[in-house]
Amino acid sequence: MSTTLGNLSTETRAFAPPPELTAQANVTAAAYDEAAPDAPAFWARQAERLTWVRKWDQVLDWSNPPFAKWFVGGELNIAYNCVDRHVEAGRGEKVAIHWEGEPGDSRTITYADLLRSVSQAANTLTELGVTAGDRVAVYLPMIPEAVVAMLACARIGAPHSVVFGGYSVEALATRIQDAGAKVVITADGGYRRGSPSALKPTVDDAVARCPSVERVLVVRRTGEDVAWGEKDLWWHETVEQASDQHEPQAFDSEHPLFILYTSGTTGRPKGILHTTGGYLTQVSYTHWSVFDLKVDTDVHWCAADIGWITGHSHLVYGPLSNGATQVMYEGTPDTPHHGRFWEIVDKYRVSILYTAPTLIRTMMKWGDDVPAGYDLSSLRILGSVGEPINPEAWMWYRKHIGHDNAPVVDTWWQTETGGMMISPLPGVTATKPGSAMTPLPGITADVVDDAAESVPNGGGFLVLRGPWPAMLRTIWGDDKRFIDTYWSRFGAGAGAGDEWIYFTGDGAKRDEDGALWLLGRVDDIMVVSGHNISTTEVESALVSHPVVAEAAVVGAADPITGQAIAAFVIARSNVDTTGRAGEELTIDLRNHVAKTLGPIAKPRVVFVAELPKTRSGKIMRRLLKDVAENRTLGDVSTLLDSTVMDLIKAGYGTPAGSDVSAIRRSTAP
Ligand code: WTA
Repeated sequence: MSTTLGNLSTETRAFAPPPELTAQANVTAAAYDEAAPDAPAFWARQAERLTWVRKWDQVLDWSNPPFAKWFVGGELNIAYNCVDRHVEAGRGEKVAIHWEGEPGDSRTITYADLLRSVSQAANTLTELGVTAGDRVAVYLPMIPEAVVAMLACARIGAPHSVVFGGYSVEALATRIQDAGAKVVITADGGYRRGSPSALKPTVDDAVARCPSVERVLVVRRTGEDVAWGEKDLWWHETVEQASDQHEPQAFDSEHPLFILYTSGTTGRPKGILHTTGGYLTQVSYTHWSVFDLKVDTDVHWCAADIGWITGHSHLVYGPLSNGATQVMYEGTPDTPHHGRFWEIVDKYRVSILYTAPTLIRTMMKWGDDVPAGYDLSSLRILGSVGEPINPEAWMWYRKHIGHDNAPVVDTWWQTETGGMMISPLPGVTATKPGSAMTPLPGITADVVDDAAESVPNGGGFLVLRGPWPAMLRTIWGDDKRFIDTYWSRFGAGAGAGDEWIYFTGDGAKRDEDGALWLLGRVDDIMVVSGHNISTTEVESALVSHPVVAEAAVVGAADPITGQAIAAFVIARSNVDTTGRAGEELTIDLRNHVAKTLGPIAKPRVVFVAELPKTRSGKIMRRLLKDVAENRTLGDVSTLLDSTVMDLIKAGYGTPAGSDVSAIRRSTAP
């Protein structure tokens, strides 16, 4: 990508916060002013939300960048902050988790229940020889034991490494080995798409390759037969029999809390390391401020899997540190029917919903009548995370889920940032559909050009300036890779000046009002006839057409224009995309994009039934590029459903279609 990024689309709609929300909002516009002059001092005030056993001596130590230390000398116990203190404050009978199993079974877990279970699990792990600093791998379905396991690890200072329950033997084994985990906590299986899906066999195969593992603790969820080895122990025969009394011990603010692997586009996964005090401070504050959490009345539901950072920060540490009541759901949104999510919202009177654009677009595809069949009036805040949300998906979310009144907060952050970084505040910000708006109080994000100069209005690279409390501390076991990946593109790490600047890997643009628009990973940005065009903008233009539910765009090498734009489009469920009707629609869509973004952005359009997605729901554009450039597919191991690519290849491969010159012909302005 050269100096800046084209700024093609414009969005004029804006939605002020509902006055009644503003009147009672947890945070007002004053927070930005309070934080601006001295971010560390602002964060020190937010750290008072937590219960510290020993107060810090120094808020921030940034003397050895890019290695930050927050709340130096402070000591606390994370599990105490997430559980015990709520019970001590008389809220033991408050529901912590309304758990809903996929088959329709449910469990209600109060804070007092959680305290007993976490204490039992902490005692068991200790008996198994796990001590502070030992790593524990967690490979579980979305069941309450996953939360209990994580909190028990935190309670005894053993960093957890949660591995998404859908990952393969290979992925699990690599992560266990990299972290050198001593214990693995798993289950016989979980329920997925209407039937039991085994986990234990995957663990057995992985553990056979991982000599560091001494014990495997197995939760019984499905009751299916499992092979049993000498390292294996049942959760119900150990944890559930253990003492429910456990004295939490305080740990240093910089004690490692967890490792979470992110798989990036190339190379082996990176073990992102997060620590204790700074992480919990930012996650607790952002969960409370961005969702305007009213702890006595709100019911929060983060629909992300616990194996992603969103699940760590907004299903475990954020809501529980705040003493919230929340919903946890085991299964998929389409089992047993397309209204499953809205049924759950209706059943538990969910007031805060946090999900991903991929899910919102899927719901759009299924049709407006599905959510219309449920009472969604309890919803008052809607969150989005994980990918840029297209303006039309944003509008749909607000209208069909948020009854045209609930603010949509589009939250930008990363596994690496630990906590939310860029987001509206629901009682303060007038939101623009598709924009994550501005950095949160205490955070400095910027859009810069190649030379790290701020781009006041227009597109460039999204960077973060100055350390923030929940920032990753390093990549587990690889400080050099930490520096190379995030700190060597701009600023001091690149040998330019004294300032350490964190490169996010994302492109963004800033509009006249200072609002930020995320444009996807810079690796995906296209260069067409010398212009940088973001895939996000073309995708959003497509999604703004009434027949389109979802679109993925890639640049395919082209001898004349450099790259030609290829668009893979999913139509809404009632649209005929076959034969003549389909041909006419593709022309219509090309023209629609050209009209919205200019003739240079005219894509070649093919209709597909599905898009390749990672297991966390992000579109894998790299694979679509392989198709568009008629290459053998690259690594598909993180793909959710590998059959999708066969269908797409077949759809793309009209005899002329799989050759790049055809894309060029049909995309010439
Ligand atoms: C993307 C998820 C646009 C972005 C918390 C980022 C987003 C990556 C948004 C991190 C958003 C996340 N708008 N893009 N609101 N949120 N992203 O590590 O490319 O799973 O760098 O963390 O997702 O993904 P991760």
